[in-house]
Amino acid sequence: MISENVIAVTSGKGGVGKSTVSVNLALALSRLNKNVAIIDLDIYGFSVPKMLNITDRPKTINNKIIPVGSHGLSVMSTGFMVRGNQPIVWRGPMLGRMIEHFFKDVIWGKLDYVILDMPPGTGDVALDLHHMVPECKEIIVTTPHATATHVAERAGTMAQNTNHEILGVIENMAYFSPPNQDEKYYLFGKGGGEALAQTLDTKILASLPMAVPNEAGEVPTIYDETTNLFNHFNNLALQLDSLLTKKAAIN
Ligand SMILES: Nc1ncnc2c1ncn2[C@@H]1O[C@H](COP(=O)(O)OP(=O)(O)O)[C@@H](O)[C@H]1O
Ligand SMILES: [Mg+2]
Repeated sequence: MISENVIAVTSGKGGVGKSTVSVNLALALSRLNKNVAIIDLDIYGFSVPKMLNITDRPKTINNKIIPVGSHGLSVMSTGFMVRGNQPIVWRGPMLGRMIEHFFKDVIWGKLDYVILDMPPGTGDVALDLHHMVPECKEIIVTTPHATATHVAERAGTMAQNTNHEILGVIENMAYFSPPNQDEKYYLFGKGGGEALAQTLDTKILASLPMAVPNEAGEVPTIYDETTNLFNHFNNLALQLDSLLTKKAAIN
Protein backbone atom coordinates (compact mmCIF):
# COMPACT_ATOMS: atom_id res chain seq x y z
CA MET A 1 0.00 0.00 0.00
CA ILE A 2 1.70 3.19 -1.12
CA SER A 3 -0.52 5.52 0.94
CA GLU A 4 -3.46 5.48 3.33
CA ASN A 5 -5.27 7.78 0.97
CA VAL A 6 -5.51 6.69 -2.62
CA ILE A 7 -8.17 8.76 -4.37
CA ALA A 8 -9.35 7.95 -7.89
CA VAL A 9 -10.82 10.84 -9.83
CA THR A 10 -13.38 9.26 -12.17
CA SER A 11 -16.21 10.21 -14.48
CA GLY A 12 -18.48 8.51 -16.95
CA LYS A 13 -17.15 10.42 -19.92
CA GLY A 14 -14.17 12.43 -21.07
CA GLY A 15 -13.80 16.17 -21.18
CA VAL A 16 -15.57 16.90 -17.90
CA GLY A 17 -12.39 17.97 -16.11
CA LYS A 18 -10.95 14.88 -14.40
CA SER A 19 -7.37 15.79 -15.22
CA THR A 20 -7.91 19.42 -14.33
CA VAL A 21 -9.42 18.41 -10.99
CA SER A 22 -6.72 15.77 -10.36
CA VAL A 23 -3.82 18.13 -10.96
CA ASN A 24 -5.25 21.15 -9.14
CA LEU A 25 -6.41 19.05 -6.20
CA ALA A 26 -2.97 17.43 -5.95
CA LEU A 27 -1.35 20.88 -5.98
CA ALA A 28 -3.77 22.22 -3.37
CA LEU A 29 -3.07 19.25 -1.07
CA SER A 30 0.62 19.83 -1.53
CA ARG A 31 0.11 23.47 -0.50
CA LEU A 32 -1.14 22.03 2.81
CA ASN A 33 2.37 20.57 3.19
CA LYS A 34 1.27 17.06 2.33
CA ASN A 35 3.35 14.61 0.33
CA VAL A 36 1.31 14.07 -2.79
CA ALA A 37 1.68 11.84 -5.83
CA ILE A 38 -0.36 12.01 -8.98
CA ILE A 39 -0.65 8.99 -11.25
CA ASP A 40 -2.06 9.52 -14.70
CA LEU A 41 -3.84 6.31 -15.69
CA ASP A 42 -5.64 7.76 -18.68
CA ILE A 43 -3.88 5.52 -21.15
CA TYR A 44 -5.35 6.94 -24.33
CA GLY A 45 -5.72 10.50 -23.17
CA PHE A 46 -2.83 11.06 -20.78
CA SER A 47 -2.53 14.79 -20.16
CA VAL A 48 -0.86 15.24 -16.79
CA PRO A 49 2.75 15.56 -18.09
CA LYS A 50 1.69 18.30 -20.48
CA MET A 51 -0.39 20.12 -17.87
CA LEU A 52 2.59 20.13 -15.50
CA ASN A 53 4.97 20.96 -18.32
CA ILE A 54 7.04 17.84 -17.73
CA THR A 55 9.61 16.94 -20.35
CA ASP A 56 11.74 14.66 -18.14
CA ARG A 57 11.25 10.93 -18.06
CA PRO A 58 11.48 8.86 -14.89
CA LYS A 59 14.87 7.37 -14.12
CA THR A 60 15.44 3.86 -12.88
CA ILE A 61 17.71 2.43 -10.21
CA ASN A 62 18.06 -1.34 -9.77
CA ASN A 63 14.91 -1.95 -11.80
CA LYS A 64 12.93 0.45 -9.65
CA ILE A 65 11.49 3.66 -11.03
CA ILE A 66 11.98 7.10 -9.54
CA PRO A 67 8.90 9.22 -10.22
CA VAL A 68 9.33 12.59 -11.87
CA GLY A 69 9.19 15.52 -9.45
CA SER A 70 7.23 18.56 -10.61
CA HIS A 71 5.59 21.46 -8.78
CA GLY A 72 6.28 19.61 -5.51
CA LEU A 73 4.40 16.51 -6.72
CA SER A 74 5.68 13.02 -7.49
CA VAL A 75 4.35 12.15 -10.91
CA MET A 76 3.91 8.97 -12.93
CA SER A 77 2.03 8.82 -16.19
CA THR A 78 1.21 6.26 -18.82
CA GLY A 79 2.48 9.04 -21.09
CA PHE A 80 6.02 8.35 -19.82
CA MET A 81 5.76 4.89 -21.29
CA VAL A 82 5.30 5.98 -24.89
CA ARG A 83 7.58 7.73 -27.29
CA GLY A 84 6.52 11.21 -28.30
CA ASN A 85 2.81 11.58 -28.69
CA GLN A 86 2.25 8.37 -30.61
CA PRO A 87 -1.04 6.60 -30.17
CA ILE A 88 -0.69 3.18 -28.64
CA VAL A 89 -2.78 0.08 -28.64
CA TRP A 90 -3.17 -1.36 -25.18
CA ARG A 91 -4.62 -4.74 -24.50
CA GLY A 92 -6.47 -5.48 -21.28
CA PRO A 93 -3.65 -7.39 -19.53
CA MET A 94 -1.18 -4.61 -20.37
CA LEU A 95 -3.41 -2.13 -18.57
CA GLY A 96 -3.45 -4.26 -15.48
CA ARG A 97 0.30 -4.65 -15.58
CA MET A 98 0.72 -0.90 -15.90
CA ILE A 99 -1.25 -0.29 -12.73
CA GLU A 100 0.69 -2.99 -10.92
CA HIS A 101 3.93 -1.51 -12.21
CA PHE A 102 3.04 1.97 -10.93
CA PHE A 103 2.13 0.61 -7.52
CA LYS A 104 4.91 -1.93 -7.04
CA ASP A 105 7.94 -0.86 -9.01
CA VAL A 106 8.08 2.84 -8.20
CA ILE A 107 10.03 4.26 -5.26
CA TRP A 108 7.41 6.62 -3.89
CA GLY A 109 8.62 7.36 -0.38
CA LYS A 110 6.09 8.41 2.22
CA LEU A 111 2.89 9.70 0.66
CA ASP A 112 -0.05 11.36 2.38
CA TYR A 113 -2.13 11.36 -0.78
CA VAL A 114 -2.15 9.61 -4.11
CA ILE A 115 -4.42 11.11 -6.73
CA LEU A 116 -5.28 8.85 -9.67
CA ASP A 117 -6.36 10.56 -12.86
CA MET A 118 -8.56 7.86 -14.36
CA PRO A 119 -9.59 7.27 -17.96
CA PRO A 120 -13.24 8.02 -18.68
CA GLY A 121 -15.81 5.33 -18.18
CA THR A 122 -15.99 2.13 -16.29
CA GLY A 123 -13.63 -0.12 -18.21
CA ASP A 124 -10.70 -2.39 -17.54
CA VAL A 125 -8.63 0.16 -15.68
CA ALA A 126 -11.31 0.61 -13.03
CA LEU A 127 -11.58 -3.15 -12.54
CA ASP A 128 -7.82 -3.61 -12.35
CA LEU A 129 -7.62 -0.77 -9.90
CA HIS A 130 -10.18 -2.49 -7.73
CA HIS A 131 -8.04 -5.63 -7.64
CA MET A 132 -4.83 -3.77 -6.94
CA VAL A 133 -6.14 -1.16 -4.51
CA PRO A 134 -9.40 -2.35 -2.96
CA GLU A 135 -9.28 0.42 -0.34
CA CYS A 136 -9.20 3.10 -3.02
CA LYS A 137 -11.64 5.99 -2.55
CA GLU A 138 -13.36 7.79 -5.38
CA ILE A 139 -14.35 11.28 -6.40
CA ILE A 140 -16.78 11.51 -9.29
CA VAL A 141 -16.51 14.50 -11.59
CA THR A 142 -19.45 15.65 -13.68
CA THR A 143 -20.65 18.72 -15.48
CA PRO A 144 -24.19 19.89 -14.78
CA HIS A 145 -25.51 18.54 -18.12
CA ALA A 146 -28.16 15.91 -17.64
CA THR A 147 -26.38 13.58 -20.08
CA ALA A 148 -23.06 13.99 -18.26
CA THR A 149 -24.59 13.22 -14.89
CA HIS A 150 -26.46 10.27 -16.34
CA VAL A 151 -23.20 8.79 -17.61
CA ALA A 152 -21.36 9.71 -14.43
CA GLU A 153 -23.92 7.68 -12.56
CA ARG A 154 -22.53 4.54 -14.20
CA ALA A 155 -19.06 5.35 -12.90
CA GLY A 156 -20.60 5.85 -9.47
CA THR A 157 -22.47 2.58 -9.62
CA MET A 158 -19.23 0.89 -10.62
CA ALA A 159 -17.55 2.37 -7.54
CA GLN A 160 -20.39 1.12 -5.36
CA ASN A 161 -20.24 -2.35 -6.93
CA THR A 162 -16.54 -2.60 -6.23
CA ASN A 163 -17.11 -1.28 -2.70
CA HIS A 164 -14.94 1.72 -3.30
CA GLU A 165 -15.93 4.46 -0.94
CA ILE A 166 -17.30 7.47 -2.79
CA LEU A 167 -16.02 10.64 -1.14
CA GLY A 168 -18.37 12.82 -3.15
CA VAL A 169 -19.21 14.51 -6.41
CA ILE A 170 -17.41 17.46 -7.94
CA GLU A 171 -19.56 19.49 -10.26
CA ASN A 172 -17.22 21.13 -12.74
CA MET A 173 -18.01 24.02 -15.08
CA ALA A 174 -21.05 24.48 -12.87
CA TYR A 175 -21.49 28.16 -13.72
CA PHE A 176 -19.80 31.20 -15.14
CA SER A 177 -19.15 34.41 -13.23
CA PRO A 178 -17.71 37.35 -15.19
CA PRO A 179 -14.46 38.72 -13.70
CA ASN A 180 -15.05 40.64 -10.46
CA GLN A 181 -18.76 39.87 -10.42
CA ASP A 182 -20.76 37.64 -8.13
CA GLU A 183 -23.50 36.97 -10.65
CA LYS A 184 -23.64 33.27 -11.60
CA TYR A 185 -24.74 32.15 -15.04
CA TYR A 186 -25.69 28.47 -15.24
CA LEU A 187 -24.69 27.89 -18.84
CA PHE A 188 -25.07 24.12 -18.73
CA GLY A 189 -28.15 24.01 -16.55
CA LYS A 190 -28.36 23.59 -12.84
CA GLY A 191 -28.79 20.80 -10.34
CA GLY A 192 -27.13 17.92 -12.23
CA GLY A 193 -24.39 17.47 -9.63
CA GLU A 194 -26.87 17.54 -6.78
CA ALA A 195 -29.08 14.95 -8.49
CA LEU A 196 -26.08 12.68 -9.06
CA ALA A 197 -24.94 13.06 -5.45
CA GLN A 198 -28.42 12.05 -4.26
CA THR A 199 -28.55 9.04 -6.56
CA LEU A 200 -25.17 7.86 -5.29
CA ASP A 201 -26.10 8.66 -1.70
CA THR A 202 -23.20 11.05 -1.31
CA LYS A 203 -22.63 14.79 -1.32
CA ILE A 204 -21.23 17.54 -3.50
CA LEU A 205 -17.68 18.35 -2.47
CA ALA A 206 -17.36 21.36 -4.75
CA SER A 207 -19.18 23.27 -7.45
CA LEU A 208 -16.44 24.73 -9.61
CA PRO A 209 -17.00 27.69 -11.91
CA MET A 210 -15.77 28.01 -15.47
CA ALA A 211 -12.22 29.28 -15.66
CA VAL A 212 -12.00 32.80 -17.08
CA PRO A 213 -9.42 33.46 -19.83
CA ASN A 214 -6.41 35.50 -18.71
CA GLU A 215 -5.20 38.71 -20.34
CA ALA A 216 -3.40 36.70 -23.01
CA GLY A 217 -6.72 35.07 -23.88
CA GLU A 218 -5.66 31.67 -22.54
CA VAL A 219 -7.74 29.57 -20.21
CA PRO A 220 -5.35 28.36 -17.52
CA THR A 221 -5.22 24.66 -16.68
CA ILE A 222 -3.26 25.15 -13.46
CA TYR A 223 -4.95 27.74 -11.33
CA ASP A 224 -2.69 30.24 -9.58
CA GLU A 225 -3.50 32.66 -6.78
CA THR A 226 -4.84 35.27 -9.21
CA THR A 227 -7.83 33.01 -10.02
CA ASN A 228 -10.91 32.26 -7.95
CA LEU A 229 -10.54 28.58 -8.82
CA PHE A 230 -7.32 28.60 -6.76
CA ASN A 231 -9.44 29.30 -3.67
CA HIS A 232 -12.02 26.70 -4.64
CA PHE A 233 -9.27 24.06 -4.81
CA ASN A 234 -7.75 25.22 -1.50
CA ASN A 235 -11.16 24.79 0.12
CA LEU A 236 -11.63 21.40 -1.49
CA ALA A 237 -8.22 20.21 -0.26
CA LEU A 238 -8.93 21.41 3.28
CA GLN A 239 -12.32 19.74 3.25
CA LEU A 240 -10.96 16.40 2.02
CA ASP A 241 -8.01 16.49 4.38
CA SER A 242 -10.20 17.05 7.41
CA LEU A 243 -12.70 14.41 6.24
CA LEU A 244 -9.99 11.79 5.74
CA THR A 245 -8.15 12.69 8.93
CA LYS A 246 -11.40 12.22 10.87
CA LYS A 247 -12.05 8.89 9.17
CA ALA A 248 -8.52 7.73 9.98
CA ALA A 249 -9.05 8.69 13.64
CA ILE A 250 -12.24 6.60 13.80
CA ASN A 251 -10.64 3.49 12.25
N1 LIG B 1 -13.70 24.74 -14.75
C1 LIG B 1 -13.26 24.80 -16.01
N2 LIG B 1 -13.40 25.94 -16.75
C2 LIG B 1 -12.97 26.03 -18.03
N3 LIG B 1 -12.38 25.03 -18.69
C3 LIG B 1 -12.21 23.86 -18.02
C4 LIG B 1 -12.64 23.68 -16.66
N4 LIG B 1 -12.33 22.41 -16.28
C5 LIG B 1 -11.74 21.85 -17.35
N5 LIG B 1 -11.67 22.68 -18.38
C6 LIG B 1 -11.11 22.42 -19.72
O1 LIG B 1 -11.90 21.40 -20.32
C7 LIG B 1 -11.08 20.52 -21.08
C8 LIG B 1 -11.23 19.09 -20.56
O2 LIG B 1 -10.71 19.03 -19.24
P1 LIG B 1 -9.88 17.76 -18.74
O3 LIG B 1 -9.46 18.04 -17.34
O4 LIG B 1 -8.82 17.40 -19.72
O5 LIG B 1 -11.05 16.66 -18.76
P2 LIG B 1 -10.96 15.06 -18.68
O6 LIG B 1 -9.69 14.72 -17.98
O7 LIG B 1 -12.19 14.67 -17.89
O8 LIG B 1 -11.04 14.55 -20.07
C9 LIG B 1 -9.65 21.04 -20.94
O9 LIG B 1 -9.36 21.84 -22.04
C10 LIG B 1 -9.70 21.88 -19.66
O10 LIG B 1 -8.74 22.91 -19.66
MG1 LIG C 1 -8.08 13.53 -18.61
